[in-house]
Amino acid sequence: MTSQRQIHLGLFLQGAGHHVSGWRHPDAESGSENFDLLRRLVQTAEAAKFDLAFLADGLTSSVDAHPSMIARFEPLTLLSALAMVTERIGLAATSSTTYGEPYHTARAFASIDHLSQGRAAWNIVTTSYDRTAKNFSKAHPQHDDRYAIAEEFVDVVRGLWDSWDDDAFPKDKERGLYADPAKVHVLDHEGRYFSVKGPLNIPRSPQGHPILIQAGSSGPGQDLAARTADIVFTAQQSLEEAQVFYRSLKSRVAGFGRDPATVAVMPGFMPVIGRTLAEASEKLVELDRWTDIAKAMPLLEERIGHSLGAYDLDGSLPDLPLSDQLRSRAELLTELARREKLTIRQLALRVAAGRGHHIVAGTPVDIADRMQLWFENGAADGYNVMPPFFPVGLDEFVAEVVPLLQERGLFRRDYEGPMLRDHLGLRRPAPPA
Ligand SMILES: Cc1cc2nc3c(=O)[nH]c(=O)nc-3n(C[C@H](O)[C@H](O)[C@H](O)COP(=O)(O)O)c2cc1C
Repeated sequence: MTSQRQIHLGLFLQGAGHHVSGWRHPDAESGSENFDLLRRLVQTAEAAKFDLAFLADGLTSSVDAHPSMIARFEPLTLLSALAMVTERIGLAATSSTTYGEPYHTARAFASIDHLSQGRAAWNIVTTSYDRTAKNFSKAHPQHDDRYAIAEEFVDVVRGLWDSWDDDAFPKDKERGLYADPAKVHVLDHEGRYFSVKGPLNIPRSPQGHPILIQAGSSGPGQDLAARTADIVFTAQQSLEEAQVFYRSLKSRVAGFGRDPATVAVMPGFMPVIGRTLAEASEKLVELDRWTDIAKAMPLLEERIGHSLGAYDLDGSLPDLPLSDQLRSRAELLTELARREKLTIRQLALRVAAGRGHHIVAGTPVDIADRMQLWFENGAADGYNVMPPFFPVGLDEFVAEVVPLLQERGLFRRDYEGPMLRDHLGLRRPAPPA
């Protein structure tokens, strides 16, 4: 047990790796439907004492999508299977506030929290892409409306999680009392977007409330995170940008009367590991060589939110109106292109490699140094680790980078407790009033 501030690590789990061409590497195994592979990866992360494994999600499919996103398991179904083959690692899944119902969401995550004995986390997303609406018989709300809906949605979910006192189910055979009527709280929520009576039909879960993660970096996204989240996922390109985001987020947290130290900011982080810097750089170049620019362009276009077909691939990115879809990512990529003077082609390849997340190619020491630098300079409390391909990219990180972080006293050698809350050093929320 150490009192030194520790890096939090998440495994960003994707069936075909993170680099768009990672699955083509001769050593790669892939398959979003390959439970055996996913199980091994999460068990590897657990053996290395990662805080959590994380599943992103979307509600559409396209053959032009990133191979990890063309087809994938429904994340809560997958989490319940993973809960049965792991013991300590946190289990996080993405679920949309625009296309979900608070009652379903509250119930599903409370169920995972029970099944995993206190390891569940919900990644709250508002769903960027308007094409999603075509699968749900409804219209896609505007960016800021999506966040207004999300604010109320999260409050309803948290209210439902407090439907029952911790000791509401005495199962007293003598008195014939299975559930105690004095220990139930009916939510009776009537709001702008939702009417939810309650109570929830599952007992209060081991963590009280499953952990809340928020991923969405615009102003309204940061406000939602600052008010409600325990972890914030984000995409940041440079130390300076990450520091600006970190400061902005933490001051908003304080603005909501919360302790900034109780909210962990975790940018995505892609390690490309070699024995030498040259070997690591060559590995990344090789992966980029397998990337077909015709496949990379749709990935860029959906993040920028505009078709780029009319522009010269070897020219610079034109000035485009800010997209309503993935607002913060469109800003990040535009800034990146301007700062590094990238052509459209180069920017598309960068998105194909890491989707706008921070990529570090280097030796294990280079990678550990960068993680330490951001961690110690107000830019990150941890990382959502995105190996370019599986399982090798994760195996290398665990074998070569994690021990360096441990030697430096920056990462745990063992779990401190059984629940995800314990890994994050967070107290259990007070029982319902
Ligand atoms: C790091 C990160 C991860 C995200 N992961 C998902 C995801 O898995 N599924 C999803 O539908 N949206 C995801 N989003 C999108 C957000 O929920 C949000 O809709 C989008 O970022 C637009 O909001 P913003 O402008 O506040 O960032 C993610 C966003 C970020 C920044």
